[in-house]
Amino acid sequence: MATHPIPRFPDGFLWGVSTSAHQIEGAAELREPSVWDAFTAEPGRVKDGSTAAVACDHYHRYREDVALLADLGVDAYRFSVSWPRVNSPGGLGFYDRLVDELCAAGVRPVPTLFHWDLPVGLDWLERDTASRFAEYVTRVADRLGDRVGRWITLNEPAEHTLLGHALGVHAPGRGLLFDALPVAHHQLLAHGLAVRALRASGATDVGIANSHGPTWPASDDPADREAADFYDLLLNRLFSDPLLTGRYPEGVGELMPGDARQVDADLAVIAEPLDWYGVNYYAPTRVGAPQGAEIEFGGLTLPAELPFSVRGIEGRPLTDFGWPVVPEGLTELLTGLSDRYGDRLPPIVITENGCSYEGLDDRDRIAYLDGHVRALHRALEAGVDVRGYFVWSLLDNFEWAEGYARRFGLVHVDFATRERTPKASYGWFREVLRAQRHRP
Ligand code: NOJ
Repeated sequence: MATHPIPRFPDGFLWGVSTSAHQIEGAAELREPSVWDAFTAEPGRVKDGSTAAVACDHYHRYREDVALLADLGVDAYRFSVSWPRVNSPGGLGFYDRLVDELCAAGVRPVPTLFHWDLPVGLDWLERDTASRFAEYVTRVADRLGDRVGRWITLNEPAEHTLLGHALGVHAPGRGLLFDALPVAHHQLLAHGLAVRALRASGATDVGIANSHGPTWPASDDPADREAADFYDLLLNRLFSDPLLTGRYPEGVGELMPGDARQVDADLAVIAEPLDWYGVNYYAPTRVGAPQGAEIEFGGLTLPAELPFSVRGIEGRPLTDFGWPVVPEGLTELLTGLSDRYGDRLPPIVITENGCSYEGLDDRDRIAYLDGHVRALHRALEAGVDVRGYFVWSLLDNFEWAEGYARRFGLVHVDFATRERTPKASYGWFREVLRAQRHRP
């Protein structure tokens, strides 16, 4: 592990950590069910058979968690608001208390308004879900807007479309493959309507958290390059192009629901200007031509009929999840976004970056984060306007279809007692933050 100091980031750079409601809150009996409750109730959906009914019990222990944030010394905390909880009596009161506690501790609240826990009964295949989302966003903004400055509309619509609706390994568990494209369009429309709703309620600092990663072709062979380009379109450009340019990538707009005029009108909403652009980065992906067989990759089984195949990245350490550790992929990603979108790209905030490893003495996590913070600094040196960095995650939590087996936290959670224990990486991050503040 590198021991020399992390380079100095600009004044005002926002350091934070991220979580999401379904993954940490628990207290499921105090809210309406979400599609994730329904999904985890089906046998075989979650690898360890667990649910998030209690999770980290953050709903009852939020004061202890805010104290951990304050002690860590972060500027900001990214959490998500659970739509099913807001629909339940007293649900907004929880976020009132959390936001008050954060403000009192000097930590800026950065809520995400949708992190995959759709209320049961709603469906992203339906266009109307976008309008329903905007109504819910107005309720939240009207209640919390006096204390919340910065908002995130959606988390990773790409993963929610791909994993939840195309492949069915996340809730709501649909295997629609390319028929899942309307889910992408309706989430993007929901985002645009939410931006308008937030602005109407006085918000001035609005962004989104999109997953991005470089796609590396398996070889120079044209078939591998074509497959990699298609993968990149589906996972990266399908979401960033409409948001930042007001257009879908070539050939995709025709596949979206509604006639061309409707899609164009929607794109005008989707491309509402943003104050900043959130990027979740974990690793690049090596992609080649289809191999005619199912692929086991990073905890997923990908069907044989996909027009690409995902390969391993050789010669790199792997996290416990099997994801390769490639810090320079972050520099490549950020300079690539800046080249592609130029002046249309608002300032970037890294809204998630992290890794899963076991243990309290988590040197591998420190090495991962250290490498990525340095790679981020190199992107700044290359001229990319990056304004913040959030580690995923504050706490070990419910890692979706993996259950509790993947530990992304800076703080260990004992899921029998819910006891929190800071890991070595928590101490490392605290020192990084101190050094950033105390150097001239
Ligand atoms: C992205 C998601 O936003 C988050 O919910 C998840 O836990 C992390 N990636 C790690 O897989």
